[in-house]
Amino acid sequence: MEHNPFHRIIIKPSNIHLHLNPKLFYHFVFFIVGISLGTVATLYFKTLSFHLQYFFYHGNPASSSSQPPYRSPSLTLAPPLATQPEHSLLLMSNNNTSIRSITTNKVSLMHNMTDQDLFLEAIKVQGRLEKKDDVSNRANPKVAFMFLAKGSLPLGPLWERFFKGNEGLYNIYLHQHPSFNETVPQDSVFFGRRIPSQPVFWGTSSMVDAERRLVANALLDDSSNQRFVLLSESCIPLFNFKTIYNYLINSSLSFLNIFDDPRKPGRGRYNPKMSPMINITDWRKGSQWFELHRDLAIKLVSDTTYYPIFQELCHPPCYMDEHYIPTLVHMKYNELNSNRSITWVDWSRGGPHPGRFGWGDITDEFLNRIRFGGNCVHNGNVTNVCFLFARKFLPNALEPLLRVAPLLLGLDP
Ligand SMILES: *[C@@H]1O[C@H](CO)[C@@H](O)[C@H](O)[C@H]1NC(C)=O
Ligand SMILES: *[C@@H]1O[C@H](CO)[C@@H](O)[C@H](O)[C@H]1NC(C)=O
Ligand SMILES: *[C@@H]1O[C@H](CO)[C@@H](O)[C@H](O)[C@H]1NC(C)=O
Ligand SMILES: *[C@@H]1O[C@H](CO)[C@@H](O)[C@H](O)[C@H]1NC(C)=O
Ligand SMILES: *[C@@H]1O[C@H](CO)[C@@H](O)[C@H](O)[C@H]1NC(C)=O
Ligand SMILES: *[C@@H]1O[C@H](CO)[C@@H](O)[C@H](O)[C@H]1NC(C)=O
Ligand SMILES: *[C@@H]1O[C@H](CO)[C@@H](O)[C@H](O)[C@H]1NC(C)=O
Ligand SMILES: *[C@@H]1O[C@H](CO)[C@@H](O)[C@H](O)[C@H]1NC(C)=O
Repeated sequence: MEHNPFHRIIIKPSNIHLHLNPKLFYHFVFFIVGISLGTVATLYFKTLSFHLQYFFYHGNPASSSSQPPYRSPSLTLAPPLATQPEHSLLLMSNNNTSIRSITTNKVSLMHNMTDQDLFLEAIKVQGRLEKKDDVSNRANPKVAFMFLAKGSLPLGPLWERFFKGNEGLYNIYLHQHPSFNETVPQDSVFFGRRIPSQPVFWGTSSMVDAERRLVANALLDDSSNQRFVLLSESCIPLFNFKTIYNYLINSSLSFLNIFDDPRKPGRGRYNPKMSPMINITDWRKGSQWFELHRDLAIKLVSDTTYYPIFQELCHPPCYMDEHYIPTLVHMKYNELNSNRSITWVDWSRGGPHPGRFGWGDITDEFLNRIRFGGNCVHNGNVTNVCFLFARKFLPNALEPLLRVAPLLLGLDP
């Protein structure tokens, strides 16, 4: 993703904030306080023949409990949001192709629910879906791609190509540090896909909190989301969209890497105070980069039994993000999991951090070894395709990756 700031300007007719972006260019006109919305709109229609659309995001999604909250971009004027201008958005364009968030009826994923309320809301909505036995959402399943990133996405341009042309089959969710303030162009697939975030500190429960926050937002945002993939800014796709989509949608099991490590960095991190709720024989380890089916995703945000135990008793050198979900799933939902990860990583170099790959590492041979070099079971069938994603790739890997993408990964140039 490039970091072209998506400039916005604010008009203040009395107390309403409008953000304009004429023509997808980053040129902007500044209007002055005192001009009414009607005047502005009329002026634009008459002089520039622009198609003006305005959307105000109503800033209090929690208040409507009967609807998935952030489905409520309203066409009517909402009350002022003087302190939260990012919650209101006016998009203007002379054609419809540039306004993705309008076609999906979504202006922003932002809300001000606490995690607690968010999780409860997600569970409530799921309960309603199940009561209605709503199969329509399973008929058109989507994959939720959840990016847990510190800040920018240096490999964004590769992902842009990956997603291109597959609208309607996926949703993107982006958890970035709250102080990260770079914006993406309006025509980016990442535009408007940030969720409310909290700072994440490596190795602490804040990492798990961010993961659950992503899952809960994705659950709540779109009931068509049936697969939930956690990715980082250093991840790359190993196949084109359709291949990955089919692999995930066709699988009856989730892809969570779970194993019992008898050594110090495994069972050695178990805290005996967790007994009797959690036995050492239940203790599991695994990579945090999971793929969850919707059934497990709901279980993850519903858990109020094991989370507090980990939060209290698993501190470095016990890393909650490596043990909490694996132990929970092992104890309660073993039958829903394949026990393997679909995100490749290289631990062969030893040490606490996995191998990183840059410009000089990107060759067809290297990538094909990851793509086809395995031996795995997929719905009872043996396949050499074990991995759909890989990490960790450095920003300078982007250029060679874009170069091999059309032929190797089957991404359109
Ligand atoms: C969310 O924001 C609205 C106004 O935008 C405010 O009325 C409400 O109290 C806020 N809720 C929380 C939980 O902060
Ligand atoms: C919409 O605008 C883009 C560029 O801004 C242009 O390429 C495209 O052809 C336009 N589409 C229509 C339907 O006018
Ligand atoms: C934009 O889309 C709406 C319906 O989605 C349509 O009525 C309108 O004609 C479109 N405008 C342009 C400029 O394509
Ligand atoms: C973004 O944050 C940096 C510091 O964190 C600040 O210097 C800069 O002005 C901010 N930019 C915008 C557009 O708010
Ligand atoms: C699932 O697998 C079947 C058979 O391999 C294939 O025809 C289909 O397109 C795949 N994808 C979906 C979403 O069902
Ligand atoms: C924990 O293990 C002990 C035996 O080592 C067993 O008696 C006990 O039932 C186990 N507790 C749970 C919750 O599985
Ligand atoms: C995953 O591992 C557990 C044991 O930890 C086992 O019971 C389960 O059958 C395994 N699942 C698959 C699909 O291999
Ligand atoms: C597994 O193999 C069987 C028989 O070859 C085939 O019918 C089925 O579609 C395969 N399933 C998947 C998920 O590829």
